[in-house]
Amino acid sequence: MKILILAFIVAITFSSFQKKPSFDLKASITRGQEVYTTNCISCHMEKGEGMEGVFPPVAKSNYLMADKKRSIVQILKGVSGPIKVNGVDYNGEMAAIELSDREISDVLNYVRNSFGNKGAAVIPEEVKAVRK
Ligand code: HEC
Repeated sequence: MKILILAFIVAITFSSFQKKPSFDLKASITRGQEVYTTNCISCHMEKGEGMEGVFPPVAKSNYLMADKKRSIVQILKGVSGPIKVNGVDYNGEMAAIELSDREISDVLNYVRNSFGNKGAAVIPEEVKAVRK
């Protein structure tokens, strides 16, 4: 009997896992463009080009694309001190930006999939895990 109950639980867990709707990256990128326009464009510019030596580019940024988790941390907690982006040194400060888990996932999906970038989806659950 115990075995049966256990098998039942495993089956339920597995089927609910499978039914989980897949993440709609395209919709997230579309929402992310708005988040970018409101919160990021003033420094990182319309085409993500930034301002050399002052605001690093997000367009084709080796730094951004190298580490998904780090980019989540940067938006949640801000980033300061020396960093090198596409071979150029920056030593500025970006304050933490107050956004929801979904907004952070959306804006990262936008920058990671625009301006010549192409990256795997960032889902809100990943942001939530980093926030903790
Ligand atoms: C007030 C200006 C400002 C705003 C607004 C701003 N940033 Fe930044 N951002 C910076 C600066 C300055 C740095 C570099 C910090 C350093 O030198 O350590 C940076 C670094 C970054 C980096 C890492 C370096 C790179 O270019 O790959 C990413 C990614 C990034 N910002 C994304 C964003 C996103 C997304 C938003 C909007 C949600 C945003 N930033 C809003 C100024 C800003």
